[in-house]
Amino acid sequence: MASESRYDETIAAWKRDPEAFWAEAARGIDWDRPWDQVFDPALGPYGQWFAGGMLNTCFNAVDRHVRDGRGEQAALIWDSPMAGRVESWTYTQLRDRVAKVAGALRALGVRQGDRVVIYLPMVPEAAISMLACARIGAVHSVVFGGFAAAELAKRIEDAEPVVVISASWGLEPGRVIRYKPLLDAAIGFSAHKPRACLILQRPQAEAALTPGRDHDFAAAEAAAAPADPVSVPATDPLYILYTSGTTGKPKGVVRDCGGHAVALHNSMRMVYGVGAGDVYWAASDVGWVVGHSYIVYAPLLAGCTTILYEGKPVGTPDPGAFWRVCAQHGVKLLFTAPTALRAIKQQDPEARHLAGHDMSKLEALYLAGERCDPPTAIWAAETLRLPVVDHWWQTETGWAITAGFRGLGLFPPKPGAGGRPSPGYDVQALDEAGHVLPRGQSGNLAVRLPLPPGCAPTLWRNAEGYVAAYLADYPGWYRTGDAGVVDAEGDVSVMGRTDDIINVAGHRLSTGAMEEVLAGHAAVAECAVVGVQDALKGHVPLGLVVLKAGANQDEATICRELVALVRERIGPVAAFKDARVVQRLPKTRSGKILRASIRRIADGEPAAPPPTIDDPAILDEIGAVLGRSRPA
Ligand code: COA
Ligand code: AMP
Repeated sequence: MASESRYDETIAAWKRDPEAFWAEAARGIDWDRPWDQVFDPALGPYGQWFAGGMLNTCFNAVDRHVRDGRGEQAALIWDSPMAGRVESWTYTQLRDRVAKVAGALRALGVRQGDRVVIYLPMVPEAAISMLACARIGAVHSVVFGGFAAAELAKRIEDAEPVVVISASWGLEPGRVIRYKPLLDAAIGFSAHKPRACLILQRPQAEAALTPGRDHDFAAAEAAAAPADPVSVPATDPLYILYTSGTTGKPKGVVRDCGGHAVALHNSMRMVYGVGAGDVYWAASDVGWVVGHSYIVYAPLLAGCTTILYEGKPVGTPDPGAFWRVCAQHGVKLLFTAPTALRAIKQQDPEARHLAGHDMSKLEALYLAGERCDPPTAIWAAETLRLPVVDHWWQTETGWAITAGFRGLGLFPPKPGAGGRPSPGYDVQALDEAGHVLPRGQSGNLAVRLPLPPGCAPTLWRNAEGYVAAYLADYPGWYRTGDAGVVDAEGDVSVMGRTDDIINVAGHRLSTGAMEEVLAGHAAVAECAVVGVQDALKGHVPLGLVVLKAGANQDEATICRELVALVRERIGPVAAFKDARVVQRLPKTRSGKILRASIRRIADGEPAAPPPTIDDPAILDEIGAVLGRSRPA
């Protein structure tokens, strides 16, 4: 497979001269000023790409396609079974809306380098607002709608936005999410207060605006003078995206302008094999990195038509929703999370809902967010009669670390693996001391520095935190936090996280953050949260708590309160529905909680007591509470 492809020669070209490789890729972007250095190792924790260069990402994603004759092509399709609407904007129309919203932000005092928090459901204004920020050099920070007010507050406090953009409501199956009260509560909690809020009044329910602070989105857009794109340094931040770390404080992952535009533009051809005029659909949410990269920036940088879908894989209205969208809009490449396919497969194992949909335009299905279990990958490949590609990446990298490469002819990748490293990434499994392990041995997956363009150069106002989280453990390497193996042929398989992060329905969550919430309950003495295997969501969190002596509520009430508390503090997206009271938690003799042992018992796997355990009998106690006998 590799010998027939251009993968090996592309990797060789990159290895021979990484700077020449990325300078060549950078020709796909319109620069206002060329860079002084392709890579400057003196900037930031490990260096930065295209130092000295000037560009505007919004110009590259929108205006230049109008200039180049694509003005009448559909740029953005909003397909919302939730609202019962399908709408589309050409590149010209998108440019005009983005310019007006950028003008509205300017009128509210947003200047280059200022932050704008975007807390919106999956409406076109989410993408338009992101691009509007990029147009005037403001830094957006999108917050996923499934987070609670307290989580939104943490992000407002850290990013210190001048303006917050939100909406009156969002819809989840069976319930209306009123965003505005959540926003008001978050601003109340936060020490930082934004100067203004732009509120999108959705037709079904309007929100009361706070006089002097809140402005109607549509009215502000209509009244605004269009703003032109401004030239910004390639090394300036384009956005901040907060993601779960090992504590309750989310990490503000920074994306720069130049490297991001180059890497994402290049990835569309190299990884996905699509280009200008193709219809590309990432069925994700703009609140996550996949949404940033592959709903908004990459497809538009490449001149594709992108789809923003406000709906679910099932229930909106049925498990044929994805096939309907693909057929109706002529999707060439679909990108989603394995959990979405599991949901479809669970409700429609024989794919009856595929019937009647013309899927002839769809050429491939790419999956990411969690490891794709082989039965789901096989089901999808057989159902769609298409290649299914699992590819591995993270919020921090912004694009695929490993993949199958349609554009290089290395496709589809070996079944069961996450593909080969993308040109730019030297991926190795390391032992605990940081030595490269022989092929075939599993270890800590790490990427040799420097990371390629597009990867986070730092954390927002926290370069030391970046070094501590990713660079300090293995000098010269970026620690991915994932365990896995690089096999003899160079294919990489990712086994799971080595830290407290879990993936629930493709959503990245911190068990540490949930433990902080549980520990805040008056009756809880200590606690542990672990991710337990789940047939639909991949993992779901399970909380074990030890009560304080003398706690006088009954256990069932406390567990109900704990579930409600996580929903209130972190949000429904945490999917925390199972808390149990135990007498003791398994610990090492030095007092460290043995979460891996708890997880194995909950999963019904063999859990031999580790040699460091203080009292092995506790494992049986936990097994009894969970209704699992502990296999030897
Ligand atoms: N705003 C508000 N609430 C949200 C939300 C949002 N944007 N997204 C999810 N929620 C809520 C859900 O309504 C649900 O609430 P509930 O506990 O009252 O039922 C809760 O958060 C958990 O959501 P989720 O874990 O998504 O479960 P689900 O049962 O609603 O849906 C799937 C299951 C598999 C259909 C859905 O998770 C899915 O489509 N996942 C794909 C994720 C994805 O694309 N990830 C990006 C990586 S590529
Ligand atoms: P996020 O930052 O939300 O994109 O989550 C990143 C994490 O999701 C990674 O560190 C992995 O643990 C997991 N992940 C993403 N894609 C894959 C994949 N294809 N295979 C295995 N794990 C994945």
